[in-house]
Amino acid sequence: MTRRPLIAANWKMHQTVPEALTFLDHLLADLSGDEEAEVVIAPPFTALEAVGRRLDGTSVQVAAQNVYWEDQGAFTGEVSPLMLKQLGCRYVIIGHSERRQLFGETDETVRRRLRAAGRHELTPILCVGETKEDREAGRTDDVITGQISRALEGLYPDPLRELVVAYEPVWAIGTGLTATVDQAQEAQAHLRLLLARITDKGLANRTRILYGGSVKPENILALMAMPDVDGALVGGASLSADSFTGIIHF
Ligand code: PGA
Repeated sequence: MTRRPLIAANWKMHQTVPEALTFLDHLLADLSGDEEAEVVIAPPFTALEAVGRRLDGTSVQVAAQNVYWEDQGAFTGEVSPLMLKQLGCRYVIIGHSERRQLFGETDETVRRRLRAAGRHELTPILCVGETKEDREAGRTDDVITGQISRALEGLYPDPLRELVVAYEPVWAIGTGLTATVDQAQEAQAHLRLLLARITDKGLANRTRILYGGSVKPENILALMAMPDVDGALVGGASLSADSFTGIIHF
């Protein structure tokens, strides 16, 4: 099964609207439009509309960085899947470790967000990953198994026609420390086996599993050479059009 590589930029809380548009001018000038990898940008909510408009009709897709699970209502400060869909979002990042660590995200809220995304045909980019303590205690497989199984509980098969998983070891995010290619491959092969067990072999084989954590132009090629690394979720190195393009053209 060949899976199209996916390279996604997670801008986190960076890029005002003018900054985002300048970035896109550079990026689009560097892309031919028939890249081997699918390219996705996840801007902050405030730039989603402007980025969506600019990318409309291009080969680059738009993602949101989070989503609430209700369609509308008295939920001050939240953004619904319906609103994202209407802006042309195709993907949504769910369960990023920063949300888990800083904003009280749990496996249960991840599950609700996944269900809501599925209901509106937004493809989830579901993030999982172990902390440094987990890895040192030999708990990596147990932790990511727990995160994936609890996130997908009761969801299969309906809202899971398409899923992207991002394996992001927490100790590698924004630290300059990248997992070795063997560590990434081992965890990602484990995730695929697990997906086959929880859902079905077809979905497990189709699902793109991204690596995230200090990805840069210098290390992307070696990561992409691993059989279960189907792309990357890129934070810091996605903020400059030059380095992001370097990653896209790995
Ligand atoms: P980083 O972030 O590339 O800056 O390590 C990755 C992420 O948090 O998705």
